[in-house]
Amino acid sequence: MTLDGAQGAAGRAGGGRPRVLATWDLPAAVERLRPRCDVDVWGERRALPPEALAARVADAEGLLCLLTDRVDAALLARAPRLRAISTVSVGVDHVDLAAATARAIPVGHTPGVLTETTADLTFTLLLAAARRVVEADGLVRSGGWRRWEPDLLLGRDVHGATLGILGLGAIGRAVARRAARGFGMRVLAWSRARGPLGDLDGAVAWAELPELLAASDFVSVHVPLTAATRGLLDAPALARMKAGAILVNTARGGIVDETALAAALREGRLAAAGLDVFEREPVDPASPLLRLPNVVLAPHIGSASVGTRERMARMAADNLLAALAGGRMPACANPEVYR
Ligand code: DGY
Repeated sequence: MTLDGAQGAAGRAGGGRPRVLATWDLPAAVERLRPRCDVDVWGERRALPPEALAARVADAEGLLCLLTDRVDAALLARAPRLRAISTVSVGVDHVDLAAATARAIPVGHTPGVLTETTADLTFTLLLAAARRVVEADGLVRSGGWRRWEPDLLLGRDVHGATLGILGLGAIGRAVARRAARGFGMRVLAWSRARGPLGDLDGAVAWAELPELLAASDFVSVHVPLTAATRGLLDAPALARMKAGAILVNTARGGIVDETALAAALREGRLAAAGLDVFEREPVDPASPLLRLPNVVLAPHIGSASVGTRERMARMAADNLLAALAGGRMPACANPEVYR
């Protein structure tokens, strides 16, 4: 079914206009849903509290949610009419996919549209951490810059260095392209499933994880957060990293052991880190990472450009409309529901 056809049928599948709960007032999504659905929008600028989410999803057929909403088996048990979930994110670690699949509920997400924007931020953090841009900015603003000095704020060269990429999916590949073609970096990649390198043939070499960690001047994380990747960069893995290396994480905080990372940075075993994601978000104000000058921090803004966030919202709405009309979601994280 084409999307237009799907949208046209959205109201027919359940014999009326389907009721959708949107956990954030995203105009680009809500305006797309309203002609076909009755949309209950949580209008406050804070996450819908779990109990209120459970109460409001109780009679919803569709759920448009964010990565900050926990959609677990307990929530699904309280949503007997639910037949489509769509998250405005590519990551789906906040949704219990197995529980949704058991109920034959498709879970939509937003791959593709945020790839280049997230790769841009990855490189922003990599460069800022390597060249100590945040420390430099602080020095100038504070009036502490007295004179040009030959050893003032010396950083690391990015060009010609070795970048290790964990996870060569779409975002990992976009980062690899920037590294190899823009900065002449040697790029190593580790992934559980090794597909064809395609246009990266000759620019990227596969490596085992210990080998990659030992050889890379920069390591960038691009695996999804799953049971298998939680804590992938734990204390022993961080200890395997090359002395003076720099870690960048724009994937999910749970992949890196933050306590071990803070220790490695404090002791100077790692030179710096650029972090957009954290084990707990917003980051714990007591986190030692906040007190380290060699960490560049961002509040989970990997995909946060005007155009990309709008494309994500539209894509999430289209996923929901297609499923509510009885069609196939254009981007479904649990396609086994269609088997
Ligand atoms: C995602 O989409 O999963 C990112 O973390 C936010 O854009």
